[in-house]
Amino acid sequence: MSRRERTGPAKPAARPLGVGDWIWACRPGFEADLVEELERADKKSLPSRVAVGLVKSSRRPRRGSDFIELAFARQGLPVDALLAVAGDDPRVLGEAVAGAIGPLLGAGAAPFALQVWVADSDEANPLASYATAMEEAAVAALGPKAMERRVLARATRSGDDRFVQVCVLAASRAAVGVIPIGGAVSLAPGGRRRIGAPAGAPSRAASKLLEAFDWLGRGPDPGDRCIDLGAAPGGWTHVLLERRARVIAIDPARMAPSLAKHKNLQHVQASAFTYQVEEPVDWLFCDMAWRPLEVAALLAKWGRRGAARFLIANIKLPMKQKVEFVRRVSEIIATGGWQNLRVRQLYHDREEVTLGAWRI
Ligand SMILES: C[S@@+](CC[C@H](N)C(=O)[O-])C[C@H]1O[C@@H](n2cnc3c(N)ncnc32)[C@H](O)[C@@H]1O
Repeated sequence: MSRRERTGPAKPAARPLGVGDWIWACRPGFEADLVEELERADKKSLPSRVAVGLVKSSRRPRRGSDFIELAFARQGLPVDALLAVAGDDPRVLGEAVAGAIGPLLGAGAAPFALQVWVADSDEANPLASYATAMEEAAVAALGPKAMERRVLARATRSGDDRFVQVCVLAASRAAVGVIPIGGAVSLAPGGRRRIGAPAGAPSRAASKLLEAFDWLGRGPDPGDRCIDLGAAPGGWTHVLLERRARVIAIDPARMAPSLAKHKNLQHVQASAFTYQVEEPVDWLFCDMAWRPLEVAALLAKWGRRGAARFLIANIKLPMKQKVEFVRRVSEIIATGGWQNLRVRQLYHDREEVTLGAWRI
């Protein structure tokens, strides 16, 4: 029996990236997960891997008039122009980019944000300085009149402001795309939202929580009551205490000595599966290193009891079928009445995703 007969018909080779496609950035090594997620979201989107950290599809998946949020996509842009120049002088590509951006922005006076980024890979990351030089050349070529309209992505005032992205594919090739900024996957270049852990935080996990607040656009207010499941050594708890929230940390392991005597912290040295909260709280946090389906069932139970209003959980995904597990975890958590469920592999997430939901 030939190899073909054993493995079934070979998939047709993916078309090369072209104008009209979408480019998606993901964490390196998660291209297959993003391809699977795109396929599940829209069978006709014909996704395929472009390079490490980059995937393409023929369109952006939608449900009705809304875009479907993809857990494994850090950033996305439509390929409105695909530029290739001779040689590797960043000024030449920069001028070509400026030439493409002008018509894409149109004659209006709408503010625009411009971001130039490279895929997160060993091959593409060294192109970062090339990308900076290319951006400077593009800005110079666009001229001061056009640049008066430029704003930082985070400073845009309306969702209709333009978001111009340039993905540098090689030292002579780039894709340029423009969307209304309200439809952006992320406001960070390439979706890499780097946030340093605050000084004194007992673990770097603090960055994951800060990024989650940034992504969801909310976090606890002073005085809010929070439960932190799987809290040790205390990176998340540290962030919550800095926001002047009151925290009950549940973990059989020890909390960092720097936190132990904090007046707003109570540490219950027990398993989250046996802990019973006495009265409802505002926020439920969970960064427990435990099996995802069991964690989901526990979080659903909290939801059913109405024991918390907001949920932020980091779900560990050490297994191969990550997309299927994300689907099952989301389904289980939704049975607890949690609404507006969102899931994303944030920049600081490794073999894990962050989930946000609320019940009001
Ligand atoms: C990734 S660490 C949490 C890091 C923490 N969020 C921070 O910011 O420092 C995972 C934690 O889950 C805890 N854990 C594992 N099983 C648990 C359980 N059944 N109940 C509570 N905590 C558990 C471990 O003891 C460990 O401290």
